[in-house]
Amino acid sequence: MIDCAKCGWLGELAFSAGAQTARLLWQLIAEALGLTRRTRWWDDSIMGTAPSANTRKEKMMADCGRPTIAEIDLGALRANYRALRRVASHGALMVVVKADAYGHGAAAVAHALEAEGCRHFGIATIDEARELRRSGLEARIFLQAGFFAAQAREIVEMGITPFVFDISVIPALQEAAASAGRARFPIHLKIDTGATRLGVMPALLPDAIAALKSSPNLVLEGVCTLLANASDPESPVTDRQIEVFRGALDALCAAGLKPTILHVANSAALVLRPDSHFTIARPGLALYGLPPVAAVRDRVELRPVMTLKTRLMQLKRVPAGSGVGYGHTFVTARESVIGVLPVGYADGYRRGLQHGGEVLIRGARAPVVGAVSMDLTTINLTDVAGAAVGDEVVLWGTDQDGAAISVNDVARLAQTISYEMLCTVGKRVPRVYRN
Ligand SMILES: Cc1ncc(COP(=O)(O)O)c(C=O)c1O
Repeated sequence: MIDCAKCGWLGELAFSAGAQTARLLWQLIAEALGLTRRTRWWDDSIMGTAPSANTRKEKMMADCGRPTIAEIDLGALRANYRALRRVASHGALMVVVKADAYGHGAAAVAHALEAEGCRHFGIATIDEARELRRSGLEARIFLQAGFFAAQAREIVEMGITPFVFDISVIPALQEAAASAGRARFPIHLKIDTGATRLGVMPALLPDAIAALKSSPNLVLEGVCTLLANASDPESPVTDRQIEVFRGALDALCAAGLKPTILHVANSAALVLRPDSHFTIARPGLALYGLPPVAAVRDRVELRPVMTLKTRLMQLKRVPAGSGVGYGHTFVTARESVIGVLPVGYADGYRRGLQHGGEVLIRGARAPVVGAVSMDLTTINLTDVAGAAVGDEVVLWGTDQDGAAISVNDVARLAQTISYEMLCTVGKRVPRVYRN
């Protein structure tokens, strides 16, 4: 943590690579300038030469670099995890931390949840698993999104548990387990019960059973499926998928295979479909505080984990008739105050948000006007009293007074879903962890 009492946002920087870079930079600058605790600029007030509020803000910005950050509330994450565990019939969750934990930072999220007692982590790619192992995570890691037979050796060596989605990968896993001397390498069989994505078709179950039975170094620890329509609690598609899943379990059992970990439910099904709980649930989005559908919000209290925020970089008063940004897609109807924010679509703030997007500043909502560009966004501050360079601006999440803009609402305006908004927050946006 940086000892930077008056530098609000940077004072919170911890863990993230961006934060570490900022901290190192600051330390280097401080050392080069020979600054000590009593002679830093923010101690000027103690020394009797306090700079004006504006000078302080400018200095703060010079010290702290680009202020566009994704603030991650680990306290909220833990609370969501506990709330979802309470909903799960067996109290067990395989938390989905793929895609860098939906943009929140996989290592930090996984370690926070491991400390909370979580033992099962779902990822999509081998590289994601490697990152978690490198970060020191020792818990079980499940490779959910498929792999090629040529990667079997790597999977076995890393000790991660693959979802076997195709019979053709079973011999490769068997060979890899045998040559690594693994007597009982656990795998989970993924059945395609109707989503028509990765998974073994029920008609091919007898072949899968035969392949497993001739694989002495593999053990069928788990069976799972993916629901296509879980966000509709009344969906007959889900009814049918659960029925097919139960049928597959019966067939496996009849063949003498007795998997102990059975999992079907994503966030929506965990909350809305108790008949999909089986022995463990696989929530993703809800962990990050977002209800996949409104009905979920009504049944379980979730706290948004990510706040995307920046600071006002420039303010200008312009006459009526001024075109704003590329293509002049917005033209002022009256004399206006336009604010420029150092955030753009390269940071994950979508171009489409020029149509109806809003940000929080000084407790008010200010509309996005003009085209969102790669690095910059313009907002209309004409009706926001007192806005000043350096003011904190919340793009989504919660401001200091508790006012909030939901990612779900932002996603709707950007004509996408909150999943996509979260996991496309750009690499150059430092994740800053709180609580
Ligand atoms: C196999 C699997 N399980 C669980 C999840 C988590 O879904 P959600 O984020 O809707 O909870 C996903 C997400 O895409 C998934 O692919």
